[in-house]
Amino acid sequence: MNRMTLTHLRKLKTNGEKITALTVYDASFANLLDQAGLDILLVGDSLGMVIQGYDSTLPVTIDDMIYHCRLVQRGSQRALLVVDMPFMTYATPETALNNAARLMREGQAQVVKLEGGSWLVETVHLLTERGIPVCAHLGLTPQSVHQLGGYRIQGRTENEAERLLKEALALESAGASLLVIECIPTALATEITSHLTIPVIGIGAGATCDGQVLVLYDMLGITPGKRPSFSKDFLAGQGSIPAAIEAFVKAVKVKTFPGDEHTFK
Ligand code: KIV
Repeated sequence: MNRMTLTHLRKLKTNGEKITALTVYDASFANLLDQAGLDILLVGDSLGMVIQGYDSTLPVTIDDMIYHCRLVQRGSQRALLVVDMPFMTYATPETALNNAARLMREGQAQVVKLEGGSWLVETVHLLTERGIPVCAHLGLTPQSVHQLGGYRIQGRTENEAERLLKEALALESAGASLLVIECIPTALATEITSHLTIPVIGIGAGATCDGQVLVLYDMLGITPGKRPSFSKDFLAGQGSIPAAIEAFVKAVKVKTFPGDEHTFK
């Protein structure tokens, strides 16, 4: 079966159909997610926290990402495969090109995801010109956790909101095919989503985004510690992991997730 394409995701945006995405790190879960009809499988560098047990994503290496990408690729057939570039593997455009090429060649990624705003415009341009599709990531960017002073909501002031909207538009113009926005107020997410022609996938960004992504272990209620307030335990009351995943897909498609209690004003 052919995998999901960026063209098809754009059609979903145009038709107002919600896009579903979850993070995933191994073949067995990739197979379950694929069977549940997920549109995007994100091999997130959140694996540093939920798989490797670090307290941030910073220690994750490019070899870690290639390894997990290969597992997910082998376990799935249908969903689009998006893979995070880890901390400092895209600090310069040339480094980004080399590492993105490794993720595509060795990991068989279809799209690479990079965290950051205007400083990434040149890199996004370089990658996309050379045939490497890019998913940008704005708002709470976990690789900058120390710079941001913690995992906290972004874009609350007028200046910050204006900057984030401008950066989203600049990344789209540079060639980004997808945008993830994390932990920003719903009104700002609505504005970004309506100004962009590329699909915008939210996490803690409200219900008006074109799609939703969650960290798999958060939505199964198995992440150690406190679950983020924007996430939901979909396993509770379902009785099985496949049923929990199907419940997530359905809730996003029929727009019952995220609810008000999962959003920021
Ligand atoms: O690494 C990850 O899991 C992510 C999601 C939070 C979007 O980037």
